[in-house]
Amino acid sequence: MKKFLGAEGVVPDRAPAEPPSEAPDEGLPQEPARQPSDPLDQNIARARARLTVDREGRRYAESADLQAELSALDGGGRRKAADELLADALLCTPSTELRRQLAERLLHRGERARAKGLLVRLVDDGPEESVHAAFALTALGEIAELEGDVDEALRCYERVLALDISLPQPKARARRLRAGQERKEGASERAALARFLGTRAAGARYAVVDEIGRGGAATVFRARDRRVLRDVALKIFHPRGNREERKKRLVEEARIAGSFDHPHVVPVLDLDEERDLLVMVLCDGGSLQRSIQQQGKLRTASAVELGAVLLRTLADIHDAGQLHLDIKPSNLLFHEGQLMVCDFGTAGLKELGAAAGTRAYMAPEQLGFLAAPVGPQADLWAAGLVVAEAIEGRLPHRGSVELPTLAIGPRRRALERVLSMLTSVELTQRPLSGRTAAELLLEAGALPQGDLEGTQLATHVEMLARREGEEALARLKSHPLVSALRPPT
Ligand SMILES: Nc1ncnc2c1ncn2[C@@H]1O[C@H](COP(=O)(O)OP(=O)(O)O)[C@@H](O)[C@H]1O
Ligand SMILES: [Mg+2]
Repeated sequence: MKKFLGAEGVVPDRAPAEPPSEAPDEGLPQEPARQPSDPLDQNIARARARLTVDREGRRYAESADLQAELSALDGGGRRKAADELLADALLCTPSTELRRQLAERLLHRGERARAKGLLVRLVDDGPEESVHAAFALTALGEIAELEGDVDEALRCYERVLALDISLPQPKARARRLRAGQERKEGASERAALARFLGTRAAGARYAVVDEIGRGGAATVFRARDRRVLRDVALKIFHPRGNREERKKRLVEEARIAGSFDHPHVVPVLDLDEERDLLVMVLCDGGSLQRSIQQQGKLRTASAVELGAVLLRTLADIHDAGQLHLDIKPSNLLFHEGQLMVCDFGTAGLKELGAAAGTRAYMAPEQLGFLAAPVGPQADLWAAGLVVAEAIEGRLPHRGSVELPTLAIGPRRRALERVLSMLTSVELTQRPLSGRTAAELLLEAGALPQGDLEGTQLATHVEMLARREGEEALARLKSHPLVSALRPPT
């Protein structure tokens, strides 16, 4: 069956033409008595006369002459007039073929409401007209889909398949709709189950509202603290492995996360070892992973700004003698527009002497590929990958970072340079601290986009440095981003 629906329907102001049961001459619109000047108008008038005045009209409606007339009108850009002539013919001769023809034409023009009446009639025309009934039911199903009535659409497709099980189009559409419904039912069942389990685990103090995230170790729920009357995030650990071990890890995670009083670290509010749960401030803006998924990629300026905040926060975490070791987009949340680092689970494991993390973001020394102690630079490695992922919408290949979606020029070269330094296998190539890295990243992001401005800027700063003396010139030359200003020779 061919595709017969237009993209958008226009509800017509006239009701669909309904053929009279008897008296073929009744109910026809009366043409005003005028002398048509367009030859096509003359044709219409002649054709109408044969339909209405001539008692032989029945034959004319089913003749090749009528079809020729319709083609001529279509060819002359008078599709609507052709539809009206066809409606008149149908009024005189209630034939299934003409009804289908008119329905197809109206659907093609997007006159869904008017076509619907004809389609319903086609379905009622009886089993001997099952080809037309199948067409009509498929079209009615498509209309119901366009109108968002999935149940009605499914009913239509199932009725078509009862007429002819082999029709590919309604079969595929019915399968797709059924799968969608099952998915929806499955998701709401899962949500209900999660809520139930969460409610049981949370105890009397917290009223679980819904699940907001899930990681390898725990599920996080939005919940209402009944005592303090505020919404919180409840991290309930999966009941896996040894109970004592789990309790130790939970306490360790809570202590590390709770030791920070930092504007960019998710505050821990409480810990319940008996119930395996951690209570945190609820971050309302979702995760960076969700933002990247939703937007495809972030604006470069936002990614740079966010990267600088992350690197400075990591510097503070490192200064406090801790490592995070699981920096990745799903562990970076937004709260009131601010970036927040969460999930110190892996940091806790480090204290307990285990190696963990997320392989795609792990530095070579963390993966055991490099015989070097795991230190702050492992977090900088992961942060470099996160910024590259935010700019490009996907993780870069291991090796050196490339940002092919950015315009070629100083800014792109400098950002590639900074991110490649952060993710360099050589520890000596990586910046020593998050703070230095944040400065470099912000400088790179502030460079001009185009080569012309880059070259002008290079000439200008070189002139200034030369004026200051040899030392300033040497300092400028050794700056890691200066070479990015000019195109490579
Ligand atoms: N305080 C919070 N507010 C809002 N969402 C959170 C919060 N903490 C965690 N989440 C969501 O729950 C997910 C899992 O939490 P996380 O602490 O990373 O668990 P895991 O240790 O299992 O990885 C996170 O990726 C995030 O989407
Ligand atoms: Mg996590």
